Amino acid sequence: MACFFRRRIAAQLGCTLQQPEDAFIPALAAVPVFKKQQSADFKLSIATLRMSGILPSSGDIQLQAESLAARLKRDSVVEDVSAGRGVINFKVNRKLLVQKVLESFGKEEEGQFGLNSELLNTLTRGTTLVEYSSPNIAKKFHAGHLRSTIIGNFIANLKQCLGNNVIRMNYLGDWGMQFGLLGAGFAKFGCQEKLKQNPLQHLFEVYVEVNKDVEQNEEMMQAARAFFSQLEQHDSEAVSLWQQFREITVDEYQHVYKRLGVHFDIYSGESFHQQQAQQVVQKLQSQGLLKTSEKGTGVVDLSTAKDMSSVSTVLRSDGTTLYITRDLAAAIDRKEKYHFDEMIYVTDKSQAIHFQQLFHILLAMGHSWADRCEHVPFGLVRGMKTRRGEVVFLEDVLDEARARMLRNMNQSKTTKETVNPEDTAEKVGISALIVQDFRGPRESDYTFDWDRMLQAQGDTGVFLQYTHARLHSLIQRNEGVAAVLFDPSHLLEQTSVPVLQHLLRYDEVLYQSAKDLQPKHLVNFLLKLCHLIASAHRELPVKGSSQDVAQARLRLFSGARSVLANGMKILGITPVDQM
Ligand code: ARG
Repeated sequence: MACFFRRRIAAQLGCTLQQPEDAFIPALAAVPVFKKQQSADFKLSIATLRMSGILPSSGDIQLQAESLAARLKRDSVVEDVSAGRGVINFKVNRKLLVQKVLESFGKEEEGQFGLNSELLNTLTRGTTLVEYSSPNIAKKFHAGHLRSTIIGNFIANLKQCLGNNVIRMNYLGDWGMQFGLLGAGFAKFGCQEKLKQNPLQHLFEVYVEVNKDVEQNEEMMQAARAFFSQLEQHDSEAVSLWQQFREITVDEYQHVYKRLGVHFDIYSGESFHQQQAQQVVQKLQSQGLLKTSEKGTGVVDLSTAKDMSSVSTVLRSDGTTLYITRDLAAAIDRKEKYHFDEMIYVTDKSQAIHFQQLFHILLAMGHSWADRCEHVPFGLVRGMKTRRGEVVFLEDVLDEARARMLRNMNQSKTTKETVNPEDTAEKVGISALIVQDFRGPRESDYTFDWDRMLQAQGDTGVFLQYTHARLHSLIQRNEGVAAVLFDPSHLLEQTSVPVLQHLLRYDEVLYQSAKDLQPKHLVNFLLKLCHLIASAHRELPVKGSSQDVAQARLRLFSGARSVLANGMKILGITPVDQM
């Protein structure tokens, strides 16, 4: 579809300017649709052609556009060519537009629309390891962990649909002094019964209690240190308690992740790398990279002048390793085990320096693949609260989203007959959370707002789901009418053409998303699609139209539904069929 037209335009440009046609593909883009039908479908950026050296970079850009536009032919595919501001606009034959877009709905397998694109084929494919979510055992699952979970899941889904081999990894905070506190605290405040009944809640309670206790109670602090050192020396009793904490935590999380539609191939964690971390320290030493600071800690000098003006601490003065030391070991281990071509870490932006230092040290150690490691940072969420107060567990947010959505559904007359309202409310509630989170630039902070995100109208996840459910029921009601053959001339209306024009951008949107790993492009594309579908739905009735008009319209709606559904799945949203 989009490729057909892009190729065709590129071929003509290639001929006219005596250049390989591929050189023009990056400069061609589908024109974004605003409200009404757009007169142009594609535009060519003159600035891009100047940058790539195809056109001289001196001279008036407007004159260049005009003179090139005058040299291009109009034909049965490209009906009109005109110079705009710094661009050349192309209008393709309307019937062909309808035909090509609708054809590709049918030809390509469900879920494949737009993926067979020369633009997407320029992306490198390989093994991508995405590390996301990564909560800390016994601590809060805060908004940052929720963002990491859904953004990481989006990136993994996107990479997978673009043909990469994706490894999804959760790197638990399952090591460190907090386990000394937890182990010692459990002896005093813990209860096996409660641990079985409500593991996350109980571990958190114990952790809070013991933290209060150590403030007045020096003995407790000693017990905690003793427990952690037993753990480090692999004392079997300490290890088995720690293992129990870890296992029940992972079990609980798996259950909640399932509700969210998220899964992991590997549950790793800091604990896996404590011994390797010591080996990393030795390696740093033998490479001459380990320095001793005035405080007696082991550091790596990161300054360009090599004057210790910027250092990263990798060893405490008591010889124990730190978060970054374990991350160094973990990265090296993952490269050896999974041979990734790229690795992506998704955490809030406060860890940006940590990851810069991590990659810097890896490179200094000679691991050139650290260049293909990327930290994907995101901003903070303000005010994520439930009726019970501050959020401690992921489950609380999901429960609240479901409850609020269920109430909204009950208040609206149209949703009375939903078959499984709880399940629908859960899926729609989660899509509301996701869309709220994905609308803006990833690095921006935002304020969590239950009422706004759950609005049925407006740019919300509820609106996406509502549109999907509506299309689904339209298609179901008219099952008998659908046909493979259709006449494109029935889809040339003011409200149908913009839907098709908009769909021409789908591969560009995925391309852009793969480049900058921002979910906002796809979310905004889908929201726009839903607005265009709403107008088309209003003005192009299926019921009461003649058979061939009805067939053509249904074809448009069912194609749009499948693109919407696929896009939603990439975002990590499960489309509902009714609500
Ligand atoms: N557990 C950490 C936290 O909650 C996040 C881990 C991020 N990943 C990493 N490889 N350091 O802050």
